[in-house]
Amino acid sequence: MPCTEQNEYASHVHELRVELAERSYPILIGAGLCDEFARHFQNRCANNRHAIIVYDQQIAALAQSIGRQLEGSDRRVSLIDVPSGEQSKSVDSLQSLWQRMLHERTDRGSVVVAVGGGVIGDLAGFAAASYARGIPLVQVPTTLLSQVDSSVGGKTGINLPAAKNIVGAFWQPSLVVIDTQTLQTLPDREYISGLAEVVKYGVILLPELFEFLEQNAEQVLERKPQALAYIVRQSCLAKAQVVQEDERETGGRRAILNYGHTFAHAIEATAGYGRWLHGEAVAMGMHMAAHLARLLGRVDEAWVGRQAQLLKRLRLPWLLPDADEPTLWAAMQHDKKVMHAALRFVLPIGNLGKVELVSGISQQQVYQAIRSASQEH
Ligand SMILES: NC(=O)c1ccc[n+]([C@@H]2O[C@H](COP(=O)([O-])OP(=O)(O)OC[C@H]3O[C@@H](n4cnc5c(N)ncnc54)[C@H](O)[C@@H]3O)[C@@H](O)[C@H]2O)c1
Ligand SMILES: [Zn+2]
Repeated sequence: MPCTEQNEYASHVHELRVELAERSYPILIGAGLCDEFARHFQNRCANNRHAIIVYDQQIAALAQSIGRQLEGSDRRVSLIDVPSGEQSKSVDSLQSLWQRMLHERTDRGSVVVAVGGGVIGDLAGFAAASYARGIPLVQVPTTLLSQVDSSVGGKTGINLPAAKNIVGAFWQPSLVVIDTQTLQTLPDREYISGLAEVVKYGVILLPELFEFLEQNAEQVLERKPQALAYIVRQSCLAKAQVVQEDERETGGRRAILNYGHTFAHAIEATAGYGRWLHGEAVAMGMHMAAHLARLLGRVDEAWVGRQAQLLKRLRLPWLLPDADEPTLWAAMQHDKKVMHAALRFVLPIGNLGKVELVSGISQQQVYQAIRSASQEH
């Protein structure tokens, strides 16, 4: 079933709906939406009289503005700040968040509003999923990665020291408010890293998005409002569509979102977490996946070159320096063991916009793909 696109009820608000029966929710996209946050919140959470705003310390002013608006509409507001960075997705931070929620007299009539990137969305989302056996959640993503990926789809969770995202829950938000204006303050490296996931949607599902990126790379890099609106909308549409078809990753469909990610996770783990941003590793991982697909005769040389060209134009790294096949392979085996999952690759086939899940790839084929992906200049 296609994801429904609703008419725009105000000229600058674009609304998509994620259709998941009683867990369906709207995604609102537009520049400046946080300036009228209370109105959007009221439409969806009229009965929730207490909002717990969990926010990234880096964007305190935005969280405070949202808080003032909700107070102005006669709600009790609790502001809870969380330090920036992946280390906040920990058992300790979750415990202190639960404690603060308790202290703020949070109950089933409360709603968690997550304001920040994927770290805050995942942490606050899991707090919402688990506190009092689950209270409503509103996502206000403020990084490109969180706007096009993590805020939609209901995956929430935290890390353990030896495994990322290993503890968590599926917990769909009641509302996602995406204010593309917030991206203007994002550091360049973070912004560009998020573009890798946008390229991914182009490859797996939306050739027209891929072509838009090719034709408008400069406007995208300059974060022109129109270009932002288009890429965020299309990406959310793609993510919503896949999630609708396979909400809990049981049918295999949702796995296509992992294009480039088997390699990327190995790159992130072997380089030491923190060396590469996630999207950077995804860009290099997509290049390796493209080479693997070519080795298997699934796509031609031109396909591989076209994707590499786009990654380059978007200033994403696509060649992993000093790629070491045995180390990457070992990391893939470890990841497989921790996740209790088979080693499967999402690989393109034929033209842009189509991928398949492929298992039974040999060590030798993976080595060869990594080698040929690293040999270009
Ligand atoms: N739940 C999912 O489906 C899903 C999907 C993909 C990734 N993730 C998770 O998302 C996390 C990564 O998310 P991320 O890339 O958004 O990282 P992040 O949340 O760490 O944000 C990146 C940096 O940007 C800063 N920041 C946030 N908004 C800003 C703004 N508007 N202006 C300036 N700076 C701002 C943050 O303080 C941080 O330093 C990872 O933990 C990953 O596991 C989850
Ligand atoms: Zn990703």
